[in-house]
Amino acid sequence: MIYDNIKKILFVLPPETAHNFVEFFLRVFARYKLSKNFFASRYFVDDEALCQNIFNQKFKNPIGLAAGFDKDATMIAGAYMLGFGYSEVGTVTKVAQIGNKKPRLFRLKELNSLQNAMGFNNKGADNMLNNIAKTTADIPIGISIGKNKTTPNSDTIEEYLYLVKKFKNSCDYIAINISSPNTPNLRDLQNEPFVAELFAKATTITAKPILLKLSCDIDKTTAIDICQTAINHGCSGIIATNTSIDYSLTSLSKDLGGLSGEVIKDKAYELFETIAKEFYGKTLLVSVGGISSADDVYKRIKAGATLVQIYTGLIYKGPQICHHINRELIRLLKADGYNNISQAIGVDR
Ligand SMILES: Cc1cc2nc3c(=O)[nH]c(=O)nc-3n(C[C@H](O)[C@H](O)[C@H](O)COP(=O)(O)O)c2cc1C
Repeated sequence: MIYDNIKKILFVLPPETAHNFVEFFLRVFARYKLSKNFFASRYFVDDEALCQNIFNQKFKNPIGLAAGFDKDATMIAGAYMLGFGYSEVGTVTKVAQIGNKKPRLFRLKELNSLQNAMGFNNKGADNMLNNIAKTTADIPIGISIGKNKTTPNSDTIEEYLYLVKKFKNSCDYIAINISSPNTPNLRDLQNEPFVAELFAKATTITAKPILLKLSCDIDKTTAIDICQTAINHGCSGIIATNTSIDYSLTSLSKDLGGLSGEVIKDKAYELFETIAKEFYGKTLLVSVGGISSADDVYKRIKAGATLVQIYTGLIYKGPQICHHINRELIRLLKADGYNNISQAIGVDR
């Protein structure tokens, strides 16, 4: 396979350098119609069986590019070229920040996993707004928002509301990120009073769907309580999960940052399943964490996910991942007698 060879080269480079390299190529190829269409015709699966109408937008397949890959919204057309049905860009903060000290991204190759302590490195809200304005809207866009590292928790609500206001006309949904392990005390905001106030105020600013992304490590009862509070105050969906700092998952882990990929697959699924049991049919559910095959996606869909997202799987499986999954997904749906993916959502609950 071609990607096996490309991967050998990319994996010789430090992970962030490899990422920047890929970003460069995606931007160049996306700039020209000819190359953009060439890649899209190879990787983007366009089939009615996978189409869903969500948030008044057509999602042509359920696989989104997870937050963190495209921090500054420079690769939306690139995500389309790779076959993603939508992209969640960010996490973006009000002001640009450099993130944590390098090295902060590591490969756990034996486990098809990553560990990162990036710390919301991004060029800030104004830059993202400009980048989105310049892009062609080939696929729906979600914007993940977070707080600057130096913002005290007492000013955090105002900062999230600022970002909601900023992006309300530039995306199809907004994702609230209070679940990254790499910004000090951020995950402490996963509490009911904060979530209640944030959603109550944010939903007066915009009618755009606002979703909540949860940590992989949150205790299940707390997760249910927080989701319920968020939904009571206007939250439109739950994204589960972010990375995990449960280093007992592997002896190969480092002592910093969040694990992603195969190593968190079961843990992320377990939390998703718990949430789906409680909230399927009451809100939109997005599953993320360790997904890399059609079987993974189908399992999450049948457990109640309307959409899924992938980050680490893309690094290990390469640019064909969406094409492979979507083609196989169509086969799995047909084999079970479904004409459209929406008929399979939640059937295993
Ligand atoms: C390098 C890296 C950076 C990430 N940055 C963000 C981020 O900025 N915001 C966010 O919500 N999630 C971020 N994530 C988490 C992913 O969106 C996703 O929730 C997690 O990696 C699990 O999915 P996966 O196993 O498919 O990678 C990041 C993940 C990685 C690997």
